[in-house]
Amino acid sequence: MDIVAHNRTAWNGYARSGESEWTLPVPPEVIGKARKGDWSVILTPNKAVPADWFGEIRGCDLLALASGGGQQVPVLAAAGAKVTSFDNSDEQLARDRLVAERDGLDLATVQGDMADLSVFADDSFDRVFNPASTVFVPDLEPVWRECRRVLRPGGRLMTGAMNPAFFMFDHDDLDKGGPMLVRYPLPFSDLDHNPQARIDQGEALEFSHSLDAQIGGLIRAGFRIIGFYEDDWSDEATPLNRYMPTSFAILAEAV
Ligand SMILES: C[S@@+](CC[C@H](N)C(=O)[O-])C[C@H]1O[C@@H](n2cnc3c(N)ncnc32)[C@H](O)[C@@H]1O
Repeated sequence: MDIVAHNRTAWNGYARSGESEWTLPVPPEVIGKARKGDWSVILTPNKAVPADWFGEIRGCDLLALASGGGQQVPVLAAAGAKVTSFDNSDEQLARDRLVAERDGLDLATVQGDMADLSVFADDSFDRVFNPASTVFVPDLEPVWRECRRVLRPGGRLMTGAMNPAFFMFDHDDLDKGGPMLVRYPLPFSDLDHNPQARIDQGEALEFSHSLDAQIGGLIRAGFRIIGFYEDDWSDEATPLNRYMPTSFAILAEAV
């Protein structure tokens, strides 16, 4: 099964329907404020990324990885970064271009799979900004390897991630008011649990990643961890929100 192709179709569908909050472009006022230095972006559902995670953003070469949708990408460009948006979904990239054309921003868009950044030379970027999206790839190791390769030494990777415990529960059932029962062993893969049903519903296929894959994997790929925080979601998004922070963010420096 071609996971990348299916997830492209799924995200194109989410973007066209406008029902996913992660596909809605920011309004012109947000870009206007960002141009004056008043801006923030998220890697996880709620908390703003600390400004010191970016350091000096003006003029830095920034790869926005799986960050399409007309949200963080145009804000970071308005804040002064030289942004390349790399995403699997043409529709998500189209939303970045829509804001760029509407508000006169300079940014590049490239379509592809985050596990293969071969379109970029080694040492191309100062920052990689990756909002929670690694749940859509089955294997993190090539993603971290490629991020390290395209970053200059001393460059920074910011990544948002889902706590793997989120995937122990049947979220379709929970959303219907079902009991909070541990159902799935980890690591979770949609491929193991009736993927055809999700495919038929136009839903993206998801994968949990162990903390070893997420944190240990970064260290093995040549990063050191220099920042971390957890974040909640909302009770509307998931009943699990009442029990645990469902996501976290990592700042890693290329050594
Ligand atoms: C939750 S959205 C993140 C972007 C959003 N602007 C945000 O605020 O977080 C997940 C993104 O990951 C992208 N994506 C999924 N699988 C991908 C892959 N294998 N390579 C690159 N991008 C991918 C999707 O197309 C989508 O734009």
